[in-house]
Amino acid sequence: MIPKKGNFSKLWGLEPSTVFLNHGSFGAAPIAVLEEQTRIRNEMEEDPVYFVEKKMNDLWQKSILELSKFLNADPEGMVFVTNATMGVNTILRSLKLSPGDEIIVPDHAYQACRNAIDFVTGRSGARTVIVPVPFRVNDESEIIDPILSAVSDRTVLAMIDTVSSPTGIRMPFEILVLELQNKGVDVLVDAAHGPGIVPLDIRKLNPAYITGNCHKWLCTPKGSAFLHIREDKREEVNPLNIGHGYSSDLSPAEKFRFEFDWSGTRDPSPWLCIPFSIGYIGSQIEGGWDEIMRNNRNMALYGRGLLCDALDIIPPTPDCMVSSMSSVEFPWSGDVHPPSPDGDPLHNLLFDEYRIQVPIISWPIHNAKYIRISAHIYNSKEEFEYLSETLKSVLRR
Ligand SMILES: Cc1ncc(COP(=O)(O)O)c(C=O)c1O
Repeated sequence: MIPKKGNFSKLWGLEPSTVFLNHGSFGAAPIAVLEEQTRIRNEMEEDPVYFVEKKMNDLWQKSILELSKFLNADPEGMVFVTNATMGVNTILRSLKLSPGDEIIVPDHAYQACRNAIDFVTGRSGARTVIVPVPFRVNDESEIIDPILSAVSDRTVLAMIDTVSSPTGIRMPFEILVLELQNKGVDVLVDAAHGPGIVPLDIRKLNPAYITGNCHKWLCTPKGSAFLHIREDKREEVNPLNIGHGYSSDLSPAEKFRFEFDWSGTRDPSPWLCIPFSIGYIGSQIEGGWDEIMRNNRNMALYGRGLLCDALDIIPPTPDCMVSSMSSVEFPWSGDVHPPSPDGDPLHNLLFDEYRIQVPIISWPIHNAKYIRISAHIYNSKEEFEYLSETLKSVLRR
C-alpha cells in the first residue's frame, strides 16, 4: 500500500501514487509557484514589447536583490544563468589557461561539470587533476587532506561541490574554499545543491566563483540558477552568449550587468519567480528556511538510518556530512558501467512495481552503485519506511 505523504504534499502537484524520494535530480515546484510563473507569463504576453522594455528590468533586479539577500551576496556580482552546468561552463570557458596549468576536481563531481573541465583543459594543453576521495569517511579531514595535497604550483582552479551528486555528501566546502584560496588557488563552488539545502553566506565564504540552482531546493521553476563572481574576477568573465552588451560603451560594472542580464530573448519567468518561491516556501514552517533545512536534514538522516538497516551496513559518513540528501552504497558485485539510457534495472523495478522514485546511481570511477534519498517538506517518515521495507523484500528475492 502506498504510504501516507507529508503534511505539505498538498502544496505540490506530485503524482499521488508515486513515492517521490528524488527531489535532488530536478527539484519539484509547488502549485503556487507554477501559478506565479503563469501569471508572469500572461502579463508578459499581454504586450511583450512593453513588458521587456518597461517592466522586466525592475522585476529582474528585484530577483537579483532578493536572492543576494537570501545568500548574503554582493548583488553586483550576482547574475542569472539557466542551470549550474551553464554557470560552471561560463567560468571555465572564460579562463585563459596555459599548457601545464592544472584544475583540481574530486572524483565525486557531477559528470557534466567534470566534462566541462576536461573540455577546457583538453583544448589548452592544461591538465585535469582528479582527486580520489573516499566515500566512507570517519571525519572531514579524510576529504579535505587529499584535495589540499593535490595542489601544485601549477594549480589554477579547484571545483568543489557543496553537496556531491552521486554520493550525496555535504562537503566541507567552507574549509576547502578557505584553505585552497589561502594557497592561491581560486575556487569554483558547484552549489547545484546549494540554496535551500545548506546555509550559504557568500560574503563570508568569499569564493572566486559560485554557481547554484534555485530550481532544486528553492523549488523555483526549472531553468533558474545563479552565478556569483567575486569583484576582482568580474572583468575576466563573459557570458557564454556574447550579445549586445559586449560592444556597449559602459562602465565595467554596467557592462558586466548588461552582458549577463540580456543574453538574447528568453523566457524570464523562472528567475522572476525566485522572490515568490523563497517567501512562499519559507513561510510554510515557523523558523523559515533554517527550520526547513533542519527538518529536511533530520528526515534524510532518518531515511539513511533505515536504508543502512535494510542493507545491513553502517552509515558511511558522520551525521554532520548529511544534508537533505544522502547516499549509501547499493550492494553490487562485478564491474560498474556508466548508466544506461534505459535506466538502472533496480531503479526501474522500484518504480514499475512499487511506485518509488529513487535514483540508483552507477559510479564507475568508484566501481560502486549508490542509492540516494532526498527529503523535502512534502515527504513523510512513512515514505522512507516503505522504501526500506521494499528494499528488504527485493533483496530477499
Ligand atoms: C553537483 C551537481 N552539479 C551540477 C549539477 C547540474 O545541475 P543542472 O542540471 O541544473 O545544470 C547537478 C545536478 O544534479 C549536481 O548535482
